[in-house]
Parts: sequence; C-alpha cells; structure tokens
Amino acid sequence: MAIKKVFVIGAGTMGNGIAQVYAQAGYDVMMSDIKEEFVRKGLATIDGSLSRMVKKGTITEADKATVLGRIKTTINNSDAKDADLVVEAAPEELALKKNIFKQLDEICRPDAILATNTSSLPIGEIAAATKNPGRVIGIHFMNPVPVMKGVEVIPGRHTRPEVLAMAKDFVKSLGKEPCEARDYAGFIVSRLVDALMNEAFWCVMDGNKPEEVDKAVKLCLNHPMGPLELCDLAGADIVLHGLETMHKEFGERLRPAPLLKNMVRSGDLGRKTGRGFYDYTQNAPK
Ligand SMILES: NC(=O)c1ccc[n+]([C@@H]2O[C@H](COP(=O)([O-])OP(=O)(O)OC[C@H]3O[C@@H](n4cnc5c(N)ncnc54)[C@H](O)[C@@H]3O)[C@@H](O)[C@H]2O)c1
Repeated sequence: MAIKKVFVIGAGTMGNGIAQVYAQAGYDVMMSDIKEEFVRKGLATIDGSLSRMVKKGTITEADKATVLGRIKTTINNSDAKDADLVVEAAPEELALKKNIFKQLDEICRPDAILATNTSSLPIGEIAAATKNPGRVIGIHFMNPVPVMKGVEVIPGRHTRPEVLAMAKDFVKSLGKEPCEARDYAGFIVSRLVDALMNEAFWCVMDGNKPEEVDKAVKLCLNHPMGPLELCDLAGADIVLHGLETMHKEFGERLRPAPLLKNMVRSGDLGRKTGRGFYDYTQNAPK
C-alpha cells in the first residue's frame, strides 16, 4: 500500500507540527481535535511557522498556500476511515490512547497503519487495545517537529515487519531519519535525556552550581542546551513524572534525585512558575 492520505489526531504542540511536515512533503493531511477552537489554533500555528519560512526565503508565498491547501481539519475521528496512516498525538495518558486506538481499529481500513507519537508509553499495551496489533507502531517525532531531523520508530511485540519497513520509509519521505528503538519505557531518547537530567540533579546536590553544570554540558559535550535549563523548560513536575516511570521500569539506576522531588513539592517547577534551577522573575538566562 502506498501512503497518500494521513490523519493526525490532536492539533496541539506535536500534532500541528506533524501535520505541517506531512503537508510539506506532499501528503493529503487531515488534522483532528476535540474542539473547533483547538483545530483553529493548530492551523494558526502552522500558518505562523510557514510565514516565518517565507520571511527567511526558505519557501515562497505560493508554496505556503499549496502546503496549507493540503491540510483539512475535523473534530470527528471517524473521518479517519479513508486514511492510509493515522498518527495519534493526543495527551500522554495511557487510558486515553488505548481508547483512541480501540476506536481507530474499528474506524480505519484493515490495511491502514496506526501510529502513536507517545514519548514513553508502551506501544505493546496501546496495540493490545486493538484487534489487529500487527499494524500498530510508535512514530515518535521530536519537538519542534519541522526542525528536528531524527524520529524514533518503535515496533511493538506484534508489529508486522512490513509495517516497520513502511514506517521507516515514510519517515524518510519527510526528509527525516528513522532511529529504530525497542519498546521499553522512554525508548532511547526520553530514557537517555532523563538519565542525563537526573545525574545533573545529583551534580547540583554534590555542590556544583547549576550554571556550571549547564555550561559544561553545552561547551564540553556540544549539547545545544544544558540539562537543568531543559528541566526548567519542560517543567520539573513533567520531568519527575517521566523519571518515576523509568524508575518503575528500570529500578535503582533511574531513581529520581531527591532534589527534584523537593523542588516539585516546593512549587519550583521552572519557567512556568517563574523559578526552577534559575530565577525567571527578573534575570532569566538566555
Ligand atoms: N510536547 C513535546 O515536546 C513532545 C515531544 C515528543 C512527543 N510528545 C508526545 O506527543 C503527544 C502529544 O503531546 P503534545 O505536547 O502535542 O500535547 P498537547 O496537549 O499540546 O496536544 C494534545 C492535543 O490532543 C487533543 N486531543 C485530546 N483527545 C483527543 C481526541 N480523542 N481526538 C483528537 N484530539 C484529541 C487535545 O485537545 C490537544 O489539543 C504526547 O503523547 C506526548 O508525550 C510530546
């Protein structure tokens, strides 16, 4: 089966980015959300992102219009009935995702591929909510989707080999590179980044200054952002939730550092509360 029509579930941070890169690659896209206003907001984000590309000279006004013309929207997931591929980018809640996949399994053609953009939930468990787990796979895009080159592709225990091959070819057709990962919590990327952040928390507990830890990681390891800046950006509560999942799966070596728990209990969640490893109320680090 050649993939032509793709359906994106969720018009939020990831969903609208995913819809944009599909449309830029020439696919017919339908993007859904639960309310008209969410869909409109997602479309406006895509419009803004394409306008920035026009301003930079990467694409023309005509290209922008063509890309936007390829994206339709809906608030009804039963419109996925003609899709060749569905990518789900709804919030990171296992029960919600299982429910969506159970419905998709009934709505979609039997040969359609069903993919989830989850960052860490088990693909096998989401697939088990369907009668046809062989067509379920993880396709994990990174944020911001239009910019990031790598995409994790995660087969579940029952994913058919041809579905994995098609998912990889599909990622390549977007001008991105698939990285195949096994179906364990956090796959490769979330697991490694959580481990790095957790060790950075221990470095701070050992007396290192947050700005020195971030500087060392940026200048000595060539990372674009320090792990503590990243924690402040993502939110300490979100990072703690992720680490607790890793701790359950992998045991002691990914036990969340006490400093992180202490910060979450004290409400120092990072940028969103004005204070985390850094103070954002006055002299926020650039
Ligand atoms: N934000 C990131 O940096 C990032 C990076 C990689 C992966 N992810 C993963 O991508 C997924 C989406 O994350 P996000 O940050 O885009 O979330 P988000 O909250 O920005 O967007 C999710 C959207 O899904 C919509 N939605 C909920 N139920 C729906 C349904 N039944 N049908 C259609 N739409 C529905 C919500 O209304 C919301 O607009 C999560 O699994 C997350 O773990 C996020």
